[in-house]
Amino acid sequence: MLNIGRPKQGETLVVAAASGLVGSLVGQIGKLHGCRVVGVAGGAEKCRYVREELGFDVALDHHAADLAEQLRSACPDGIDIYFENVGGHVWNAVFPLLNDFARIPLCGLVAHYSDVGPPAGPDRLVAFMRAVLTKRWTVQGFIVSDFGAQIDDFRRDVSAWLQAGKVKYREDIVEGLANAPMAFIGLLKGRNFGKLLVRVSQ
Ligand SMILES: NC(=O)c1ccc[n+]([C@@H]2O[C@H](COP(=O)([O-])OP(=O)(O)OC[C@H]3O[C@@H](n4cnc5c(N)ncnc54)[C@H](OP(=O)(O)O)[C@@H]3O)[C@@H](O)[C@H]2O)c1
Repeated sequence: MLNIGRPKQGETLVVAAASGLVGSLVGQIGKLHGCRVVGVAGGAEKCRYVREELGFDVALDHHAADLAEQLRSACPDGIDIYFENVGGHVWNAVFPLLNDFARIPLCGLVAHYSDVGPPAGPDRLVAFMRAVLTKRWTVQGFIVSDFGAQIDDFRRDVSAWLQAGKVKYREDIVEGLANAPMAFIGLLKGRNFGKLLVRVSQ
């Protein structure tokens, strides 16, 4: 979020999978850096949590048929940072709203992990590449360990925010290793609510 997203005061940040561990922390860090934060999550309960407990400015349910229109209304100045966890129809709604010089930290594509072939057409790769060129976007994929050298900064800052109540988190604990496969499949369908953990023993 900080290395690739480079948040600035007053910018608009959109976060996909906003109620999960990654998305919830990204959005809260965006708020702490003065961004207007719009979260996208699945269902009314997750959206209420994102808005009322995590303090995002707006939370939108991606199951809504008019997600693209709702997102446009929620981002009147366009989108400066899109933290991508999902892909799929959420990306489709975000794509036309991204501003010049937008930053797109590409963390995950959970909507596509079960894909068994190329997506249905039309092929939009050229439109995407043209937008990256003409709008001068920064799109950077990363694996969290790429920033391993900053783990001490992360622990210092996030620990202080947790202790001060500036950052909140939620865990979704599944009991028993035997339930791990179903829990993992559920993660791909949005059945988890918060960081999904499997407790293998007490
Ligand atoms: N790059 C890295 O190093 C790294 C490290 C950890 C995680 N990740 C990625 O970060 C993302 C979030 O991970 P997490 O552990 O915090 O998981 P999470 O957000 O707690 O769980 C995944 C969430 O994705 C949403 N989702 C699933 N299918 C979707 C779809 N078709 N369309 C829209 N949303 C969908 C669901 O939430 P809703 O009910 O809200 O739809 C689900 O709860 C994942 O893509 C993961 O692979 C990357």
